[in-house]
Amino acid sequence: MIKIVGIGPGNPDYILPIASKEIESAKFLVGGKRALKTFAKEGQQTFPITSDIDSVIRFISEHNDNLCVLVSGDPGFYSLLDIIKSKFNDSEIEVIPGISSLQTAFAKINLPWHHATLLSFHGRTPGNRELEYEKNKILGILTDGVYHSKKIAEVLQDFNWDKNSQFIVFERLSYEDEKITKMTLEEAKNAEPISHGVIIVF
Ligand SMILES: C[S@@+](CC[C@H](N)C(=O)[O-])C[C@H]1O[C@@H](n2cnc3c(N)ncnc32)[C@H](O)[C@@H]1O
Repeated sequence: MIKIVGIGPGNPDYILPIASKEIESAKFLVGGKRALKTFAKEGQQTFPITSDIDSVIRFISEHNDNLCVLVSGDPGFYSLLDIIKSKFNDSEIEVIPGISSLQTAFAKINLPWHHATLLSFHGRTPGNRELEYEKNKILGILTDGVYHSKKIAEVLQDFNWDKNSQFIVFERLSYEDEKITKMTLEEAKNAEPISHGVIIVF
């Protein structure tokens, strides 16, 4: 069985007990370097996830018994799950949920997210309709090195978001050096770019 396990935003305090149990009892662990450093125990064979996804898939198919793939946040929200589902039968896969980075960010500012539009700029660009300003719209956004805070602020202005909109950037959520920067959209356009965090805009 290939278990795709959500490890939450990163700090082990945020991982579900069932996810910890699955990780502890696995023979093979596949994950980012930071996740493997945090969770791998002696005796477990590990394989790091890099941009060479073909070799990750090869490792999974050659060791697909008692294997956990560790993904950040929740597996159902922009993770390796899509690719793994395209390569293996559903009966070979089990998903263990985790707390998404965006869930964590909304909790940090006490803001409900049931009406939020959740988007990813991580290796992709959302559709125009998702980005377009609407009254009372709340955006939750994943970033990456290309689409960082400054670039996203510029894109949103093109989609009619007001320059005084709240623009909150969350970096290294759940870690000791977690940082939350509250700006307006205009300030974000002029500030140093922040990448690899999440952003809430309203
Ligand atoms: C491949 S996506 C994975 C999203 C993940 N499945 C989730 O539910 O949060 C990676 C992106 O998640 C966000 N992310 C993950 N962990 C984070 C954290 N601890 N603090 C801030 N952003 C985080 C960043 O936007 C990063 O570029």
